[in-house]
Amino acid sequence: MYEFEFYNPVRVVFGVGKVACAGVEAAKLGSKALIVSYEDHAFISELLDRIRDLIRAEGVETVDFFAVRDNPEVAMVADGVELAGRESCDCVLAVGGGSVMDAAKAIAAGVCYDGDLWNMVYHRHDGSGADDIKPPDKALPMLMIPTLPATGSEMNMCSVLSNAELKEKSYIWAECIFPKTAIIDPELTVSLPPLLTACAAADTISHVLEIYINSQPDTPLQHYFQEGVMRTVMENVTKALGDPADLEARANLQWASTCAINGWSYPGDGWTPMHQVGHQLTARHGVNHGASLSIIMPAWMETFKDRRPEQYLRFATRVMDVDSEGKSRQEIIDEGVSMFRGFLESIGAPTRLGAVDVTENDLDEIINGVERVSFGADGQLACNPPVTREDLLNVLRKAL
Ligand SMILES: [Fe+2]
Repeated sequence: MYEFEFYNPVRVVFGVGKVACAGVEAAKLGSKALIVSYEDHAFISELLDRIRDLIRAEGVETVDFFAVRDNPEVAMVADGVELAGRESCDCVLAVGGGSVMDAAKAIAAGVCYDGDLWNMVYHRHDGSGADDIKPPDKALPMLMIPTLPATGSEMNMCSVLSNAELKEKSYIWAECIFPKTAIIDPELTVSLPPLLTACAAADTISHVLEIYINSQPDTPLQHYFQEGVMRTVMENVTKALGDPADLEARANLQWASTCAINGWSYPGDGWTPMHQVGHQLTARHGVNHGASLSIIMPAWMETFKDRRPEQYLRFATRVMDVDSEGKSRQEIIDEGVSMFRGFLESIGAPTRLGAVDVTENDLDEIINGVERVSFGADGQLACNPPVTREDLLNVLRKAL
């Protein structure tokens, strides 16, 4: 195993109906809360009204900031920072999916940050910039109420942000943006439409699969944990698509999504090369985050399965339950990858670039973006083994 440090201070309140605790939990954080949610929030307006009432009943004032769209923009975050400052909010609540939670985190940090908010994002911190280009070190306390089981943002120190002007998508990575509390209520996810349910499942799987196939080999506990997340998602997304009101399935999907990326499954590792490619699909072509991963994952595996055969053999037998009787290693590996593509197709997640209107002509620009934002000083994308421009072209061509 690699050496690692682990820190996760988020208190989780989990269970059906637990959104009723929103007021009590908010009152522990401050006296005036900025409530962050979607610009287009009609589909959760009743929930927002209820949460606002619960909070006010505990003596906490509220200010609405309903301006978040998918893939939150740093310009929108600046508006939230301005409003929170003007209204003297002392805590931030997020009600929504990953975009809302990430926006809330960026706003909470942005209120306490001097200078250009884009300087908070990770890829700007290569040591070559000015002194004021640094991660945030302070943020308002936050309460997260996720309505989508995918990004795990409710229990981690990451906030993914986009910059339309620069056509970049990056992320803040700082301990100060750990939320104080997450209320995870599976009932809030039962109205998710099938495509979003499928894309959320793909995102959750990617958060552990990236580490499983791209990182260190000798960490059995992590691998069992990652396999548990992947199997739980596969079993339960099928149930949730069959019966959207299946609360057990929704609960399992939500807890899996939280645990996938709260640090437990990858001490010592942090490479997410598939996400780096997915972010470019989102930044340049507006592709849903989970959809970008469901497109990249099978193509990535088809490209690299022979570089890490032990990892892919394990994936085939322990995650996809490939029957190895009478088959060669190569056949087992190939079948595992092929079954995984089939699984994604079976839940209705896109697996081809054509489904999101990306063509061969777009590939160079996508790779240029990955190189600019995510390549290391060695001119490669970090993972095990590292990936070159040519490798990425092979992946994207397999996804066409
Ligand atoms: Fe993700």
